[in-house]
Parts: sequence; C-alpha cells; structure tokens
Amino acid sequence: MNKILDKIVQNNIENITLGKKASYIPALANVPDGIGIAVRDSHGVYTSGDAERMFTFQSMSKIVLLMLALKDNGFDYVFNHVGLEPSGDSFNAISNLDFNQAIKPYNPFINAGAILTTSMIKGETYDEKLKKIIDLSSCIFGRSNITFNDEVYVSERESANRNRALAYLLKEKELLTGNVEEILDLYFRACSLEVNCIDLANLGHFLAFNKDACGVKGDHLRIIKTLMLTCGMYDYSGEFAVRIGLPSKSGVSGGIVSCAPRRMGIGVFSPRLDEKGNSILGVRMMEELNKELELNIFR
Ligand code: DON
Repeated sequence: MNKILDKIVQNNIENITLGKKASYIPALANVPDGIGIAVRDSHGVYTSGDAERMFTFQSMSKIVLLMLALKDNGFDYVFNHVGLEPSGDSFNAISNLDFNQAIKPYNPFINAGAILTTSMIKGETYDEKLKKIIDLSSCIFGRSNITFNDEVYVSERESANRNRALAYLLKEKELLTGNVEEILDLYFRACSLEVNCIDLANLGHFLAFNKDACGVKGDHLRIIKTLMLTCGMYDYSGEFAVRIGLPSKSGVSGGIVSCAPRRMGIGVFSPRLDEKGNSILGVRMMEELNKELELNIFR
C-alpha cells in the first residue's frame, strides 16, 4: 500500500501549482502548496506526502454536523427541515430558498442545509454545543488534541456575507430557530477545526462499516454515505460518482474525505481547487487510487 500511495503522490506532485486556492476566505489563499494522501484499513494507516500537514475541516465538517443533528433529533425531524436531493448548484447558492415559500434546503451538504443542521445541535450553551463537535471529532479521529485555526475562523466570520444571508433567510422561513449569529459562529468554528489526511482516513473508515460507535448510529452512517455519494462533491457529485464511485466529501481547504464501504477510509489533500471548489489533485489522486485498488462500489 505504501508503494501505491508514493506512486500516486509522485505522479501528481509536478502539477502542485495547477488551479487556484480558495480566496473568498482570505486566510485560505495564504496556505502553502502541498499534496498528501492517507488510507486507513483494518490493518492500519498508510500515508504519503504531506499526510500530516494540518488544514481546516471546512465543508467536510458538514458530515460531523449532520451526525450530531441526527443524533439529537432523529431522521424525521432533520429531514422534515432539510432535503435529501442533490442541488446541481454551487455549495453556497441561495437556489430554492429565495422564493416566497418555505422550501427546505436541498440537502445537508450545501451551506444552507449545513447551517440548518448546525442549528439542530442541542445544548444549554454555545460551549456545550461546541464541545459536542470537538468530542465527536476527537472520538472519530482517535486523538484528544483537537485545535482550531483562529485566523481562518476570524477570516471566514468577517467575510461571510452570503452565509449570513442564507442563515437569515432560513430564519425568516421559520426553518431555523435560535440565535442566528451564534449558529453561524458554531458553523464557522466547525469549518476552522484542524485536520490532516490521517484524520480524514479515520473519518472515512468510521463511515465504512455502519457500526454504532462514538454515540452515532450505524444506520445514520448509511444515510450519510448515501448523501456523500449524491451530494458530497457539490455540482461535480454526478461526474465524481461516475468516475470514482465512492461516497466522498470535499472542502475548500483542498481536502477530500472518502470511504470504500466495508473496506477503507481515504483522506487526500492539495489546496488548489477547480472552479467548483474541489481539490484538483485530490480528485486526480482519488481516480488513481480507485483504479489501483478497484474501489468503485459499482464495479
Ligand atoms: O461555508 C463556507 O463557505 C466554508 N466555510 C465551507 C465551504 C466549503 O468547504 C465548500 N467546499 N467545497
């Protein structure tokens, strides 16, 4: 496995400057170039390249936010408020919310849906809710030293006009209840949680087996994987499913978490993105790994 991962990194490293880093959150534009991959299977963890380099969780945190929303509220409540359908639209689109009716966000992996699932995390105080995000991440990653990137957090909080617009629209539609600014803050915190490829491989492995663990029900993992396949790569989800066929979730920091059901978890990272917000080399590495190991669930 190590040889395969090294080969994949070597095949792609010369294109490390292809594409653009996310710049709508100013602090993300400053991260150095890099490339990393990690795989976790029942035998252990395998890595190559910058697999230990920390980057921010960004939209991959939407998986943890959905786990907590489902755990605290159950399937019916969550999906009475947020849909189960791909949007075919960009991740921060207002899309179906800007009509004069209370239509729910398409799915929990677009920003509107994730802000809503964040609002469903129960707790007496902000700190109690944040602790739930930290504790679940810690249990899944198998480490207790969870940290946040404050520069990215502040940068996003100060530039989040569109997310703020989405949240207030959800409040106006009475889909979202509670303090909007506090909910947004919790969402920005989750996005700024620091992870590396090994953490992502552990998250993918956690998702792979539909087993009750860390207080999350196995059946919820099945639902989350299905949504990752249909909605996890935003408006590239359909093509990614055809080319690679694995439930995956990307983030604008350049990470992708992926899962080969009943086999392994995968984490890839490279900060430069395509126009849809997915890591260019991340997608290429996933394509190569898929071919090497025949992971596609539809093969
Ligand atoms: O809501 C945002 O804008 C970000 N913090 C997360 C977006 C993200 O990672 C979208 N990914 N492809």
